[in-house]
Amino acid sequence: MTLQAVLDRIDSDLDASLSRLFELLRVPSISTDPAFADDCQTAADWLVKDLQSLGVTASARPTPGHPMVIGHVGDTGPHLMFYGHYDVQPVDPLELWDRDPFDPEIQDTPGGKVIRGRGTSDDKGQLMTFVEACRAWIAVNGELPCQITFFFEGEEESGSPSLVPFLKENADELKADICLICDTGLFDHDTPAITTMLRGLLGEELTITAADKDLHSGSFGGAARNPIRVLCDIVDGLHDDTGRITVPGFYDDVPEIAPAVMAQWDGLGFDADGFLGSVDLSEPAGEQGRSVLEMIWSRPTCEVNGITGGYSGDGFKTVLPSQATAKISFRLVGQQDPFKIRDAFRAYVRSKLPSDCTVEFIDHGAGGASVMPTDDPAFEKARLALSDEWPKPAAFVGAGGSIPIAGHFQEILGVNSMLIGFGKDDDQLHSPNEKYDLRSFHKGIRSWARVLDALTR
Ligand code: BES
Ligand code: ZN
Repeated sequence: MTLQAVLDRIDSDLDASLSRLFELLRVPSISTDPAFADDCQTAADWLVKDLQSLGVTASARPTPGHPMVIGHVGDTGPHLMFYGHYDVQPVDPLELWDRDPFDPEIQDTPGGKVIRGRGTSDDKGQLMTFVEACRAWIAVNGELPCQITFFFEGEEESGSPSLVPFLKENADELKADICLICDTGLFDHDTPAITTMLRGLLGEELTITAADKDLHSGSFGGAARNPIRVLCDIVDGLHDDTGRITVPGFYDDVPEIAPAVMAQWDGLGFDADGFLGSVDLSEPAGEQGRSVLEMIWSRPTCEVNGITGGYSGDGFKTVLPSQATAKISFRLVGQQDPFKIRDAFRAYVRSKLPSDCTVEFIDHGAGGASVMPTDDPAFEKARLALSDEWPKPAAFVGAGGSIPIAGHFQEILGVNSMLIGFGKDDDQLHSPNEKYDLRSFHKGIRSWARVLDALTR
């Protein structure tokens, strides 16, 4: 049987698959930091060569930012697109890593063997699960069972500035029947997942200026306005005592989850205490009256991601600063319009601003939420295929994170996405000591072989 032969090949080739992944992991392709632009190019070139070794016609396409890697193979059967991103998050704070983030290794942990390093889970390890499944398929059958377009982006972690123009310019070339995206997680250790809802994201940075220069807090303190206090007051006012966001109109386009979906989620038996307990917390901090699962999958949020101002170096300085800055992100759901929310947020800030202060905003991107059409038969086929590989049947789930590209594929290409990934909540994405379970990598490759089989049979 063909599928079994492919699965056997995956098992016997695992060490070689890992060596290839390690080569890619060693490239520090941090997209947000211009100092690593050459490394992003190196990672793109590495992927082009690897795809070419599979007989894929592949190239790294220049953009104003980092290149897009596009590959095409096959000319019969269904046309699948596969998306992943080869860029990674910065490694700071470096001192909290137990080893060089770009010197990956396999480690034995109480939870099993893990691949440790930046990008192992988000997203190089995940991306390579699909490539390795294709490699095994070709090794056994000589060719893939369908047409595939590979699409690897290098700017996902920095807001994908080149993506929309690139999709518009190359729409005809990039159209496919469905897009497979490997950038999400399992539901739990034994339960694979197809993510059917993603939250949108709005990023805003604001700087408040009070006096026109830093002041001595003895000479001026009391009389002169402190912009850090103004900023903290604004930030504090963004939520009320029940955890709801106070920006006027914020909840206008937030739907309640359909009862059937809520019943399905309830049936998943999500362990809210364990989820918070795993990061040493015990009290859900979101909207009162909402479950933890709702808070992360279906409710919008407003988070302060960073706040700076005044003197925060070693020692102490009695400064009354001129400026204070915050970086704030909103996760959006349903039909919330990121541009409407941005305007409402800025109006809220201005309404709270003392008359002798000014505010400047920097826009850090805006994209809406997306919901996938689970009635497309491909979803049920993939669900059954995943259920064959893992101990428990696959679940349709939501996700707290954002993958704006899924919405752009829908809007610009008219292509829906199926989000299948093998990450886990304890992978420490974007944090020090990121890891990917070896089991996620191995079973992830096997899962894609099964999904390819199910979608093309
Ligand atoms: N892979 C993540 C998204 C994700 C995280 C999905 C957790 C499911 C579970 C992705 O690479 C990511 O981090 N996206 C950013 C958005 C981007 C515009 C910076 C995010 O969600 O913050
Ligand atoms: Zn990612």
